[in-house]
Amino acid sequence: MTNKSFFIKSYGCQMNEYDSEKITSLLLKDGYSNSNDINEADLIVFNTCNIRDKAAQKVYSDIGRVTKKNSDKTIALVGCVAQAENEEIFKKNKYVDIVLGPQSYHLLPKMIDAHNEYQKKQINTDFIINEKFDFIHEEKSPKGVSSYITIQEGCDKFCAFCVVPFTRGPEYSRSVINIVEETKSLLNRGTREIVLLGQNVNAYSYTDEMSMTYNISKLIDEISKLDDVKRIRYTTSHPNNMDHELMRLHGSNEKLMPFLHLPVQSGSNEILKNMNRKYTVDEYKKIIDNLKDYCPNIEISSDFIIGFPGETEKDFQETLNLIDYVQFKQSYSFIYSERPGTKAATIEDITPIEEKKNRLSILQKKLEGIQLKFNTSFCNTNISNVLIENQSQSNPEYYFGRSTFLQPVYVKAKNLVVGDIVPIGIETCNHKSLYGTISH
Ligand code: SAH
Ligand code: SF4
Ligand code: F3S
Repeated sequence: MTNKSFFIKSYGCQMNEYDSEKITSLLLKDGYSNSNDINEADLIVFNTCNIRDKAAQKVYSDIGRVTKKNSDKTIALVGCVAQAENEEIFKKNKYVDIVLGPQSYHLLPKMIDAHNEYQKKQINTDFIINEKFDFIHEEKSPKGVSSYITIQEGCDKFCAFCVVPFTRGPEYSRSVINIVEETKSLLNRGTREIVLLGQNVNAYSYTDEMSMTYNISKLIDEISKLDDVKRIRYTTSHPNNMDHELMRLHGSNEKLMPFLHLPVQSGSNEILKNMNRKYTVDEYKKIIDNLKDYCPNIEISSDFIIGFPGETEKDFQETLNLIDYVQFKQSYSFIYSERPGTKAATIEDITPIEEKKNRLSILQKKLEGIQLKFNTSFCNTNISNVLIENQSQSNPEYYFGRSTFLQPVYVKAKNLVVGDIVPIGIETCNHKSLYGTISH
């Protein structure tokens, strides 16, 4: 036990945030207190992301800033940069004491002890994933209305641009019992919406002791049997793992939201082939058509990579055409970032960065326009199902919630109950959010 404090920062995706929550509870259990002040804390945990160069570099400037003021803190660099750069990290920055990959963070307390005892740098980047989940113990602290739960990790797909198969290792699915137990614990602590997480979440596959195999659809059905679960979402899915059972479930399971994040990356067959995505534009469109047949009000969001090596103006136009077809209601779009060790890093890239920036801005404007039109369609209407997530601290007459389509909804009202699903009269909006009052 210790009387020391820690500060933790997440740089990455939802799974990275989920891991930070787990690390937090491990450290609290070990007697550490959680500090909001990076300069005050004795231990700093940087939970890193390696997906794009910028995210990976940011941690080093953050370490530089904090050690300039005070160099006798314990610094742990964990997560995907730790996995990718390994011992190199100690060479890049002498202040890092502990390097720990994303699959073994449960070892952190032991490594801190070893570092304190022997005053030696500690490193572990093994893939020992099932052990990590065994270490997830009963937690007591209150949880948000919407909570993540990792059900699957890793990736066997090796898209040409992506580091995830190298940083998170091969695909692994958690046991159904383990997931249901954690879900129950979240429900007891206030959660009403469960967001199932995985780098390839719809590739989830688990066979239990009775030789019963669960895919993601069966898992969702299992979770939806729990009364207090009001909503279920899952992210991130790969188009090639969207089977009919799962598409159908969006229309038949009321707790499964009519909103799906299904990253397409590009609307050009040539680029998709070079990205090793293993689907064509027509195949992607067919999935969207099928989803709409099963669940007519479903909405789709996506990720896009702009300026992948060899992307021509024509390829880019084809991406815009696909956006016209699908009408994505929310998206993340980034300029391609070359990552060491990936296939795409070997492809010649001649498109000037200015051209890529220009394409990104055209694409983002188009997507914003679609979002604004979609949000505007709700103005002066009542939407029946906003899940209230929290009440404003500074002004208790304001609440925050989300629609079934994940739109942020800001509500002026009195006495709403956090965790309830309520009807809201929408008055105004912008491309990001809706604003309204309680409708009776
Ligand atoms: N498994 C998911 C994506 C996980 S990574 C899928 O297959 O869709 C999250 C997003 O980061 C990707 O969808 C992609 O758009 C983006 N991304 C990944 N590698 C990138 C790179 N090298 N440069 C730019 N964006 C990248
Ligand atoms: Fe990366 Fe592709 Fe795997 Fe997604 S499916 S995590 S983009 S390699
Ligand atoms: Fe980043 Fe690792 Fe997530 S590279 S996006 S933190 S899986």
